[in-house]
Amino acid sequence: MCGIVGIIGHNDISAELLKMLHGLEYRGYDSSGIAVNFNGDFQVYKKAGPLSVLRQEIEGITLQGTSGIGHTRWATHGAPTDNNAHPFLSLNSSVTVVHNGIIENYKVLRKTLLEKGYVMASETDSEVIAHLIELFVDNNPNWTFRDLVVYLSDTLEGAYALLIQFADKPNEIYGLRFECPLAYVQTANTVAISSDIASLIGYDRNINILRDGQAVHITLDNEELINFDSTEVDRLHVSVDWDVKAAEKSGYDYFLRKEIDEQSDSVRALKRTLIDKAEKITAFIKDTNPDTVIFIACGSASYSGVFASVFARHAELKQTVSWEIGSEFRYNPPIINEKTLVIGMSQSGETADTVTALRYAKSKGAKVISIINVVGSTISMIGDLTINLSAGPEVAVPSTKAVINQFISAVFLIEVLRNQEQDFLTQWLLTVDELATVIGKIIEQEEVIKNYAKQLAGHQNMFIVGRGLDYSISLEGALKLKETAYIHAEAMYAGEFKHGSISLIEYGMPVLILLGDESVAAKTIINAEEVATRGGQLFIIDSLAGENFDFSCEVNYIKIPPIKKPFNLISQIVVLQLLAYHAGLHRNINVDKPRNLAKSVTVE
Ligand code: AGP
Ligand code: GLU
Repeated sequence: MCGIVGIIGHNDISAELLKMLHGLEYRGYDSSGIAVNFNGDFQVYKKAGPLSVLRQEIEGITLQGTSGIGHTRWATHGAPTDNNAHPFLSLNSSVTVVHNGIIENYKVLRKTLLEKGYVMASETDSEVIAHLIELFVDNNPNWTFRDLVVYLSDTLEGAYALLIQFADKPNEIYGLRFECPLAYVQTANTVAISSDIASLIGYDRNINILRDGQAVHITLDNEELINFDSTEVDRLHVSVDWDVKAAEKSGYDYFLRKEIDEQSDSVRALKRTLIDKAEKITAFIKDTNPDTVIFIACGSASYSGVFASVFARHAELKQTVSWEIGSEFRYNPPIINEKTLVIGMSQSGETADTVTALRYAKSKGAKVISIINVVGSTISMIGDLTINLSAGPEVAVPSTKAVINQFISAVFLIEVLRNQEQDFLTQWLLTVDELATVIGKIIEQEEVIKNYAKQLAGHQNMFIVGRGLDYSISLEGALKLKETAYIHAEAMYAGEFKHGSISLIEYGMPVLILLGDESVAAKTIINAEEVATRGGQLFIIDSLAGENFDFSCEVNYIKIPPIKKPFNLISQIVVLQLLAYHAGLHRNINVDKPRNLAKSVTVE
């Protein structure tokens, strides 16, 4: 997880590092730190807590220097304390390092270093790297960049993106990438390097992305990129068209609320991407001719696979379509062969559980379609075909616009599997415009939704209930309420309630009922009435065209303007996002950065 940054050649290095870290805080926010190199001395500041604590710490201090590195952490080894925050200095302060990832053999390395008289200032797995480099340099005074890279890649086990600076090389940064992202830009007077392209586009839109197993040595006027194993380098450049403003709050209190508003535009952007790419996708699927389709993803991204697998049954697809959770897949794998099409769904494109699952599927012969929101990301490179979600930068940890686009692209692939006629597919995609309009209309009902959210915020437990396609939407709603409002919301098949969980219903307990799947709505209503009879407080989200349904009890009702299936079902997610957002605000939660989470989960 965590974000790492480095910069050379700016007037105010500490301000620049903080600016870059601010853009990366969504990747981890339990502590942060910077090291600025001034004439061969490192000035290191690091603090537990959000970046604002570090900012306060260095306020009023002029940090001179022409280069530096920084880190925002999501702790894996050692509590989030000042001491465990990065950057780490080596024993004699000759080296400083920031690390993203996990060093799996750190205990052995730590023991060896302690035996040699090194002292550890932290409990992290990362600190050993700084000492190891110092030791390596002491033992090899004539070392070269390649020697260093070979040494580190041979010594470190696990996953890492590293930035390294030497005290006596003030305007040089070394970066290594192994299973954690790293990218850089080089302009006439600045070098910027970062975990994430979003924090680089302010410097240059032409971005160099390191591939796994590559390392770079950069100065202001030079750059050397090598492969760990000395094979020939295959460079990866991308040009990013994201709007710099889209990664800023633009007057909103929270990115989350801004990103909810951006959804009408982002679904239209996806529509354009899919119209452009429809022929290529169709040709790929024809060529693969799969008999089994498996969606693989984690968290919210996985629910689009749940939705698509039910939708495939409604569409009477001849292929078997299923979904799998990334972290489970490799350990309980289904049968995979050349006739298996795997669809990897990931906003960040860096989720380690999904990365490893996709690599495994590929090694067994499956064809892979990667659906990502970040160009050049690890998952984008695994795919035999890659589709860009086109949602633009998403900063809030609770995912909104990317999720809506994940649902749309998942059902689009089911449509392609069913009917490869280009006119049909284009017509289907044009309906996305109607979804864009309905999203706007749902947001117009925000006051009513806000009022319901206030009622929900007073409860610690609730259910979200649906049948068929609605159930997949309830999964997304439940996760959104958990992460954004810390409410224990449980997704429940409406018909399953009576088999046990209904015993939890007591007077006033909120139960959200989803009515978007017309084939089962009447049955869901019967189940909802059963809950109401036992004291449950019903909140109805109805996206079916027609009058409101009649209930024999008092209900809270949200009616979504009519729109075709499956877009009506997808639109229900927007109501759930707004409920979670406002319930979170009522509970005084920082909804952009809920506790214990990070946006990009690059550890297994
Ligand atoms: C969504 O709100 C969550 N924060 C989380 O479940 C997320 O969807 C999941 O971690 C997958 O992330 P990805 O799309 O970047 O792979
Ligand atoms: N393993 C390191 C630590 O706990 C880095 C964590 C990260 O990548 O977020 O400090």
